Amino acid sequence: KDIHLLAISGSLRKKSSNTALMNAIIALAAEPVRFSVYNGLGELPHFNPDLDVEEGPATVRELRKQLKEADGVLICTPEYGNGVPGSLKNALDWIVSSGEFVNKRVAVVTASPSPMGGDKANASLLLTLNMINAIIVEQGTVMIPHIALKMNKEGAITDEETKQQLLAMLASLGQSNSGE
Ligand code: FNR
Repeated sequence: KDIHLLAISGSLRKKSSNTALMNAIIALAAEPVRFSVYNGLGELPHFNPDLDVEEGPATVRELRKQLKEADGVLICTPEYGNGVPGSLKNALDWIVSSGEFVNKRVAVVTASPSPMGGDKANASLLLTLNMINAIIVEQGTVMIPHIALKMNKEGAITDEETKQQLLAMLASLGQSNSGE
């Protein structure tokens, strides 16, 4: 049986280094792991409990459906203002009540041009994911500083240490929940 992972980039920018990194990680994946990409972050309404009634907005239903169908989730995100990008946090806020992250295997990768590798966004994201009962997998917390020096123009990871770290993350995230 294949393992279906959902990848989410926390950057809405066309030339995002985190989206490029997410795609490079997807390219590293091998069977039985298969990825799909969630790209609706920019279309979600701002979280408002008043809208979270009955079936809720269609965009939110779609996010919840894609999360529900996934065996695990890979998040690659920048840090903005020492925190999680608002659009990504907004998406997670929609999931607090519906619970699709409960017992979901998750890895969090933050990439940044700074030497800190987005450590504050990473830590903040873990706080939220723990609150909604996600399982942060072994080796599933990766901070990548100086991202521009670690990928080439073709979008491949050129830094060997980074690549090994991401392969270990991927091997861990690609294990199934059952049998643990
Ligand atoms: C940033 N950046 C940034 N980086 C960081 O490590 N910590 C931070 O707090 C911030 N804050 C921040 C605020 C704003 C308004 C901008 C525009 C940028 C830099 C950020 O990491 C860099 O622009 C990345 O390239 C953004 O990620 P993507 O879009 O390349 O994936």
